[in-house]
Amino acid sequence: MVALSMTGCILVACLLCLLASHPTHGELKRVVVLSRHGNRVANEPILDICPNYASTRNRFKGAAGELTPVGLCEMYQVGKWTRERYMVNTTFLPDHYVDDGTFFLQSESADRNLMSATAFGQGLFPDGTGPPGYLPDRPQIIPIQTTTPGHDNLFNSVGDGMCGTRFGADIAHTAASIENHLQAEPAFESVLNEVGQACGYDLVANSRAGEGTKLLPDLVKTLDDAFLFAEDEGYPADLDGRLEQSVLEKYHTIAFDYLMGWFFETPAQISYISGQFPGKLLAALQTEDDSKKFMYFLAHRELLYAVLKFFDYPIALTGVRKGYLPTASTIVWELHKDEGDTEPHIKTFIWWPTQERGEKERSTGKDNPLLMQTGHDVEATPNACKDMTKCHLSTILEVFKSRLAKTGSYKELCAPHAAVNELVEKPSPIDLWLQPREVSHKLFIDEDYALHKQAAEQIIYN
Ligand SMILES: *[C@@H]1O[C@H](CO)[C@@H](O)[C@H](O)[C@H]1NC(C)=O
Repeated sequence: MVALSMTGCILVACLLCLLASHPTHGELKRVVVLSRHGNRVANEPILDICPNYASTRNRFKGAAGELTPVGLCEMYQVGKWTRERYMVNTTFLPDHYVDDGTFFLQSESADRNLMSATAFGQGLFPDGTGPPGYLPDRPQIIPIQTTTPGHDNLFNSVGDGMCGTRFGADIAHTAASIENHLQAEPAFESVLNEVGQACGYDLVANSRAGEGTKLLPDLVKTLDDAFLFAEDEGYPADLDGRLEQSVLEKYHTIAFDYLMGWFFETPAQISYISGQFPGKLLAALQTEDDSKKFMYFLAHRELLYAVLKFFDYPIALTGVRKGYLPTASTIVWELHKDEGDTEPHIKTFIWWPTQERGEKERSTGKDNPLLMQTGHDVEATPNACKDMTKCHLSTILEVFKSRLAKTGSYKELCAPHAAVNELVEKPSPIDLWLQPREVSHKLFIDEDYALHKQAAEQIIYN
C-alpha cells in the first residue's frame, strides 16, 4: 500500500513537472506554403546573347526553361522538410496521402511549376507510402490543381492574367530610366562590357540604350539567370575561363538590382504583381471552424518577391546573396492559436535548399546531399510586427488593407488597361476547396503500412 501510493505520488509529481516544463503549446490550425520552382535551364535566346555559353548550355540535359535534375532534387527537399515538420515532428498532416480535406496543392501552369509540384509530392509522400496494389514501390500520386490560361490572377497576373498590358507599359518606362542610369554610372557599364566581351556579344550596344531593340534589363536578366542556373546545377559559370569570378559577382549584383528595380519600382507594381495572392492567403488563414488545412502553392519567383514586399518582410538568408531567394525558396505561413489567446497569430518562415550540389553524388545516385538533407529555414517577421511577441493575423490584415488603400487592388490597377476577355475572372480551385464539405472517407488501414512507412523515412534514392 505504502509503496503503491509512493508510486502514485511520483506519477503525479512527474505529471506536474511535465506540465510545468511543457506549457500547452499553441495549436497549429492552418499552413499556407508558397514555393518558387526549382532550378531550370536558361531561356531560349541565351546563345544569341551569349554565344560562349554554348559548352555550359550543352551540359544541361533539358530544353530551354525546363526543370533540371537539381531543380527536381530541390523540390524533393522542400517535400522532405514539409514531411519532417508536419508528419514526423507534429501530426498536423496524416502521414500518408488521404483525401480528407486537409491537403491542397495548386500550381501555376508553367511546365516547370507542375513538374516542381510533382517532385515536391514525391518528397512529401515518398515511395513506400502509397496504397498497395499499384506499382511495387508503392508511389503516391497526388492531385495537382492548376489555373485557367489567360485568367490566372492568383499566381501570374502579369504573365497570364489581367495585368500584362499595364506591366508591359510600366517596365518599358522603368527600363528607360535604368538605361539612363547606366550612362550616369560608368562602373556599371564597364562590368556589362566585360561580361559582354566574355560572352562574345555586346550587351550595351545591342540594348535599346545602344540603339538596338532589346530592353537592357531584359538582356541582363536572361544572361544572369543563365549564370545562376549553371552555378545552381554545379557547373562553372566562367564561360570556359573567359569570365573572372570577381566580375561575375559584380554582374550578379547589378542584375539583381536591375530586376528588383525593374519589377518592383513602385508600390503599384508590388500590388498588381501580387495579384490575388495576398487576399487568398488571408482568406486561407482565416478559419471559422477548427479544421486543419495545409495549402501548397507553386509559382514563379516574381510572386514570392512581390508578396514579401507586399507584407513588408525583410529577406535575409544566411550564406545567400543579399535579398536573394534561391531557386525552390519557399515561404511558409502558420496560423497558431495558443490557449487563452483571444486571437490567432502568424509565424512565417522562409526555407531555402541546401547549397551543396554534389554533382558526383547525383550522377551515381548515391548520397546526393539535396535528397539527404532538409535545407535551411529562418523565421521572418513583417516590419509591422517587429516589436511584438506575436504577430497577430489582425495586424497582417491591417497591412493588407492599408497597402490596398494606398495603391488600389490589382483589379483597379490593371482593369483599365486590360482587354475585354482578360477581365473575365474565373474561380480558382482554392476557392472551391475552401468551401465546407462533408468528408466521407475512411483512412486506409493497411497492416503492411507501418513497415512501409519506416522504410519510407529512410528511403532517399535507390
Ligand atoms: C523537427 O524537430 C527537430 C528537433 O526539435 C528540429 O531540429 C527540426 O528542425 C524540426 N524539423 C522541422 C522541419 O521543423
